[in-house]
Amino acid sequence: MEIKEIVKEKYGQAALRVTTGGSSCCGASATVDGCGVDPITSHLYDANQTGQIPEEAVVASLGCGNPTALAQLNPGEVVLDLGSGGGIDVLLSAKRVGPTGKAYGLDMTDEMLALARENQRKSGLLNVEFLKGEIENIPLPDNSVDVIISNCVINLSGDKDRVLQEAFRVLKPGGRFAVSDVVVRGTVPDEVKLSMLLWVGCIAGALQDEQYVSKLAKSGFDQIDIEPTRVYTIEDARTFLSAEGIDVDSIAAQVDGRFMSAFIRATKPGAACCAPGCCS
Ligand SMILES: C[S@@+](CC[C@H](N)C(=O)[O-])C[C@H]1O[C@@H](n2cnc3c(N)ncnc32)[C@H](O)[C@@H]1O
Repeated sequence: MEIKEIVKEKYGQAALRVTTGGSSCCGASATVDGCGVDPITSHLYDANQTGQIPEEAVVASLGCGNPTALAQLNPGEVVLDLGSGGGIDVLLSAKRVGPTGKAYGLDMTDEMLALARENQRKSGLLNVEFLKGEIENIPLPDNSVDVIISNCVINLSGDKDRVLQEAFRVLKPGGRFAVSDVVVRGTVPDEVKLSMLLWVGCIAGALQDEQYVSKLAKSGFDQIDIEPTRVYTIEDARTFLSAEGIDVDSIAAQVDGRFMSAFIRATKPGAACCAPGCCS
């Protein structure tokens, strides 16, 4: 509960900064360098994508990848974005699935939902709906979604098993899980793990890549794949970790190259053949 309250407060403040004309910034890094050169969140979208949506949706972007660029999205499909923030990936998905499809955004933070709904209004897109709720309890029926996307959110959850089970539940048989997230290779030092601010800032709650694969498999997914999209060095994190009071040089070897943004794919297996001729 405590983690959720801290996450809500941080992202509520980030949404308000955008509303008042500032940059959103990712959690704790806002207190360090104003987020201007955040190696995780900057330069994720190309001009073709940003030109399609309101500027405020771009400014509010707090992801660590670009799931709609890597996910297969077809006209007429239903997409759900877990932790949709200011709505950037929902609006881009809505364009891709077109008027016969639908893009849902799910977020628990009121200020983010208000910002996302305002961005939807400015975009003029009608096939979009932002839902209030938690990714651990998705407010949609079983087997109702073709593609689940998410951008740097699952690492923030204190109950990742539950999130993946919920994702599996709402996906249709054959549905795709196509998520950007921060993952860790190997062991993370305790100093990093124990820092709440790092957690909120998208790092310390990250799963090991092997854990991610095994949790997805345990939830029922197959065709699981983790593709690194950015691998971070200690220099990317030096200012951030120093400001947390961490002796960066002493942990450098344990951190360097271990944190990465990745695109995680998995599939909910298709419906079983239930009667003669049903699979023909
Ligand atoms: C790092 S931001 C990413 C926002 C968006 N995906 C993007 O790329 O800009 C995390 C977002 O997830 C939301 N969030 C975090 N944990 C959540 C949870 N357990 N349930 C619902 N929303 C959550 C926060 O409110 C915030 O808007």
